[in-house]
Amino acid sequence: MADAYILGIESSCDETAAAIVRSGEQVISNVVFSQIATHQPYGGVVPELASREHLRAIVPVVRKALADSGHNYKSVDAVAVTQGPGLAGALLVGISYAKALAFALDKPLIAVNHLEGHIHAVLLEERQKGNDEMHFPVLALVVSGGHTHLYLAKRNQQSWTYHNVGHTRDDAAGEAFDKVAKLLGLGYPGGPIVDKLSVHGNPRAVSFPPSQIKHPDRKDRASGNPNLRFDFSYSGIKTAILRYVETHQMQAAIETRRRNLLSIRQPKLEDYLANCDRQALDLIASFQRAMVEDLVGKTLMAARAYDVATLFVTGGVAANNELRQRFEQDSAMEGLPVYFPSRPLSTDNAAMIAAAAYPKFLLRDFAPLDFSVEAGMALR
Ligand code: KG4
Ligand code: ZN
Repeated sequence: MADAYILGIESSCDETAAAIVRSGEQVISNVVFSQIATHQPYGGVVPELASREHLRAIVPVVRKALADSGHNYKSVDAVAVTQGPGLAGALLVGISYAKALAFALDKPLIAVNHLEGHIHAVLLEERQKGNDEMHFPVLALVVSGGHTHLYLAKRNQQSWTYHNVGHTRDDAAGEAFDKVAKLLGLGYPGGPIVDKLSVHGNPRAVSFPPSQIKHPDRKDRASGNPNLRFDFSYSGIKTAILRYVETHQMQAAIETRRRNLLSIRQPKLEDYLANCDRQALDLIASFQRAMVEDLVGKTLMAARAYDVATLFVTGGVAANNELRQRFEQDSAMEGLPVYFPSRPLSTDNAAMIAAAAYPKFLLRDFAPLDFSVEAGMALR
């Protein structure tokens, strides 16, 4: 089989991205234009602004991905684009552009689920390192700003199927990082800031009750019940932090911190540290520890219940240092191999979209030109 060069396009949230990937196994170019600066003053992604920024960025980002790869529009074999899930207006920009490109160039068009992209980011990089031997079944934790999902992933030749065995009942883990950071006056996006500050606080200073989730459909594994579930919930910890802030009279310090950090164009770690007292640092570290314990604990419980051979942890929150260390430590104790994407491929990118498109390219599973955005797209 000759090599296939796929142009991937991603615009589901606040990153406009394009990449060229060879045969699902080598990143040739990978361009990500982040809109963080646009959304920062609002403390979160503003969907209307995201669509406008995608419109502005899509053409230069695709041109740069082609230029960096040494390819041109004619030399790519297919155009792949994120169909969903994500912000409808943002997805529409990538999809309209990809459709026009595929039509004008007479190339196949491939629609990709964003969550499948996150899972294929792991496979892409493992193949790139020469590791073709994945043992199945795989349990994949996709943990990002919009998702906290557990999938059992299976492969039958080129065809992939996914079975969801857990998801968040309310906030996604990344959303909890972002909301808590905002609540503490740290700005947006919260995950990377909390990650860096946590090592400076005492993670045992504040304890949070573990999230209790009732699973009416959880049955004994011996029954072979396919609905054995491992759900998450993060709205409780956010409320617990809010209550802690109120009962410990932290509001004035938070307001000062918010104002000080807003006045700095691109705050550095020293700026955050200079604006955080011991109490704030301890709260941040304790929050991260609670999140990590919950994510690792539930994922490993699911891994045991489904007797999986391999674990994937992917999505923006998979960039978190403590989460990686903890997964590595705890899965090693269970003899379970765990794989993460590199940090640049953990957060949103288009290389993962081009990689997930490759099996579809081989199966000639092409999208019709009238396919549409699926903002709430499920992965199956
Ligand atoms: O995968 P991603 O780029 O976009 C979505 O599909 O949502 O994930 C973005 C999320 C944000 O919530 C961000 O705060 C979080 O990932 N994130 C992190 C870290 N880096 C990004 N969370 C914890 N620790 C990090 N180092
Ligand atoms: Zn994502």
